[in-house]
Amino acid sequence: MIVIGMESSAHTFGVGVVEDGKVLSNEKAMYNIGSTGMIPGEVAKFHSENAADVFGRALESAGITSKEIEGVGYTMGPGLGPCLEVAQLSARTVAKRLGVRIVPVNHCAAHAEIARHYGKLADPIMLYVSGGNSQILALERKPYLHYSVVGETFDIGVGNMLDSFARRLRLRPAWGSSIEKHARGGKYIELPYTVKGMDFSFTGLATKATEMIGRAKISDLCFSIQETAFAALCEATERAMLLKNKKEIGICGGVAQNKKLKDMLREMGKEHGAVLGFAPDEFNADNGGMVAYLAERMLKEGIYCKITDCLIRQKYRVDAARLG
Ligand code: FE2
Repeated sequence: MIVIGMESSAHTFGVGVVEDGKVLSNEKAMYNIGSTGMIPGEVAKFHSENAADVFGRALESAGITSKEIEGVGYTMGPGLGPCLEVAQLSARTVAKRLGVRIVPVNHCAAHAEIARHYGKLADPIMLYVSGGNSQILALERKPYLHYSVVGETFDIGVGNMLDSFARRLRLRPAWGSSIEKHARGGKYIELPYTVKGMDFSFTGLATKATEMIGRAKISDLCFSIQETAFAALCEATERAMLLKNKKEIGICGGVAQNKKLKDMLREMGKEHGAVLGFAPDEFNADNGGMVAYLAERMLKEGIYCKITDCLIRQKYRVDAARLG
């Protein structure tokens, strides 16, 4: 079965093509956030302007024509409303025109499932870390396949916290990857650390680190904000893994591209005989390939919706998504 997936929950418009669980193409156009962050209306305009081109490129690099498409998946949520609408409208248009089924996909579940696929994980505890979300997920098989949320942030996503701090430091590009680069060679400064059970918080850490701009070296601040946030994530993930009696750790979402965080999780896992698995970076960043991958599986399980029912859900929680 050949299924395409469309993604536009935040800064990326992506289209991927999957055939029987294999990703044939994964094309995207990414809005340049510069140093200002995202203005939803402007990002949505960018997506609308680029949708047709990305769609064409995805079919071309997969080596298929639109007539071969047997199903269309799109990100239903969570995400920014004006942005989500672009993939939703594009998917509805393609599905209607081709007369194929349409599958609304939860963005977080798509990240987790593509990580499970590439990481060869059967039953992991999954740390999902991105700009908008930071959650610890456990795969549940009853009463149907879904993820439960075992722990999560009390306030902002770790990616959002790192991106905001990059903007305050006027780093370019203003995201977490620049913090990772500047953290090299940095020394540790003590910053607020908040873990409560399997939940965590990042605003106190961000406030204190921001107050220290100009009073400490940039490399020390970048090193310490990462070290503190990641230690909190590792502690909560370790507790969740032991509670849920899992022997595999997965990591997914934009911040899963951070090598330091993966190293810390791998070390923690080793102490419990647990392995770490994850997808290649192109699937941790927002992309259409993961949407196509999960949509194809859901379609094979008979999960799809009427075109007129395919809306967007800005606050679509992962634990509300049925996957099989
Ligand atoms: Fe994402």
